[in-house]
Amino acid sequence: MSVITEIKQRLDIVELVSEYVTLQKAGRNFKGLCPFHSEKHASFFVFPEQQSWHCFGACGTGGDIFSFIMKKEGIDFGQALRLLAQKGGITLSPIETSDKARDEKKERLFQINESAAEYYHHLLLNTKAGEAARSYLSKRNVKHEIIKGFRLGFSPDAWEALKNYLQGKGYTEKELIEAGLIIERDEGGSYDRFRNRLMFPICDDRGRVSGFGARVLDDSLPKYINSPQTQIFDKGSILYGIDKAKSAIRKKNLAIIVEGYMDVLTAHQHDWQNVVGSMGTSLTERQVERIKRLTNNITLALDADLAGEEATLRGRAILAYSNAEANVILLPQGKDPDEVISENPALWEKLVEQAMPILDFAFQSVLSKVDINKARDKSLAVEKLLPSIYEIKDPTQKFHYVEKLARALKIKTSNIEAALQKLKTARAMPQLSKPTEQSRLARQLGSSRVEEYCLALLLQYPDLRPLAQELSLSPEYFECTENREIFVGWQRSPEISTLESQFDSGLLEHLYYLLNENFPPIVRESEQKRHSILSDCILRLQEKLLRKLETEKEAMLELAREKGGTSSELSKLDEQDIKSGQQLQDIFVKKGKKPWIQ
Ligand code: UTP
Ligand code: MN
Repeated sequence: MSVITEIKQRLDIVELVSEYVTLQKAGRNFKGLCPFHSEKHASFFVFPEQQSWHCFGACGTGGDIFSFIMKKEGIDFGQALRLLAQKGGITLSPIETSDKARDEKKERLFQINESAAEYYHHLLLNTKAGEAARSYLSKRNVKHEIIKGFRLGFSPDAWEALKNYLQGKGYTEKELIEAGLIIERDEGGSYDRFRNRLMFPICDDRGRVSGFGARVLDDSLPKYINSPQTQIFDKGSILYGIDKAKSAIRKKNLAIIVEGYMDVLTAHQHDWQNVVGSMGTSLTERQVERIKRLTNNITLALDADLAGEEATLRGRAILAYSNAEANVILLPQGKDPDEVISENPALWEKLVEQAMPILDFAFQSVLSKVDINKARDKSLAVEKLLPSIYEIKDPTQKFHYVEKLARALKIKTSNIEAALQKLKTARAMPQLSKPTEQSRLARQLGSSRVEEYCLALLLQYPDLRPLAQELSLSPEYFECTENREIFVGWQRSPEISTLESQFDSGLLEHLYYLLNENFPPIVRESEQKRHSILSDCILRLQEKLLRKLETEKEAMLELAREKGGTSSELSKLDEQDIKSGQQLQDIFVKKGKKPWIQ
């Protein structure tokens, strides 16, 4: 039995959640005040039979014991595994050692980066070589206290300076390559990645250096280069300056997100300590998750150009997904926050105060580009904005935007509502804005078997990747946290070896199990057969999700009745019930009888 299974069998979700939430009985289930958002009426449910939890209130999230602990403690899967193993009195014996080794490895990578940061910082502050970088910083008005606080540095114009320095401190060439600080040559040998650049150490939230950004001192290209993905540096989840911003974000209950390193420096220099940088990429879900541990209010500062619009729409999707309050600061044409803050601090303050809801911004940028006399433009605008409107959970707000769009395009609200309905049907699982997971019972009934089968297929047969994408197989189809983690990893990197290096040992064990899973021989023989089996698998996953949803719906109906919901609210829920019943039937029809899987 895998350690994950053992933990799930050993621990009871009701007991576990009770350590954090006061639960009371509600029929077969338990309910209490949601620990993830503040509320007056209990809409947080625990389902002992499914060993799962779900919040029917503002957060709309749910899951199993792993996701509960991950969310509650703000930790990753590996940490949750260790914590729960301990609670369950399970010794992670064979695993423990490899986890330890992994932790030690990471620790060593942090040390290497720390030494590199120190080295670069020293060169910048105290040497002749650093003079050009010093004068560059003074030209850009970066104060000494910021240079020190952010430990800016300078990488010398040499091929092996850092390499020699760090090797002298006892680190091996291999380790330096793993840290992303030196690059291996095809023909053998290696050289410093960062040369003749201004160095920005990028720290995790605990202030440990996990990577670097590096800027040229002139106009040459590329302007910035960054550390590659390493075991401790994941650009998609780190925010520049988070270690220095986190307490201000908490205190002001607001996080302002800018794009650039320089923007963060200037903001902090002007006492805007609640500013962090997304490092040029559009904000990722993982970055949002990180911020959400500090505040629910996020303001994005965006360029006035097209990239800004793109970023907003992307940002919107993420924010809708995680249900935070999101606003947008529209920067003056051609300016970035660095320039606005230093040239006109009062204007910046005003922009922050007047930040507009992200959806209003999306409306503005889309509508400014359409000619409402053209039918095609109208449909394009609807197409672009509808998914945003769809995400809004509050009905009053939703209607507000439906009306707004109707007015702007001179069409009827009923048209838009019809389009929304269509979108809803088009999405296989409309009710599940955020997926839910389940565990013990599911496992006993063998339903997570389908998840594992599906994953094993994907991992063992790379030719199935396009099909999975085509069928929109997504993380929410995997209800067990461990399966979902592996699926998300698979989505991100096609190479098994990359997956291996990212996973914690608990997950590794699960990964190896999936990689060695035996299939009916038929699968190996024909690609066509394989494809049809995967399609069926995906259908099964969908069915499983729908079934679970029904159980949750029952609880939700009960809750609505208890609250004295209006009859129209209740009938809406009933309608949804009928819908998902129909979807189930459709699936049965499509599926037929498949003898190859239990
Ligand atoms: P910007 O081009 O806006 O840079 O890119 P900046 O931070 O304002 O820098 P200055 O003011 O020109 O010195 C925004 C961010 O995008 C990432 C960096 O994180 C940068 O801070 N970026 C940009 C890269 O990673 N690589 C690039 O080549 C350019
Ligand atoms: Mn700039």
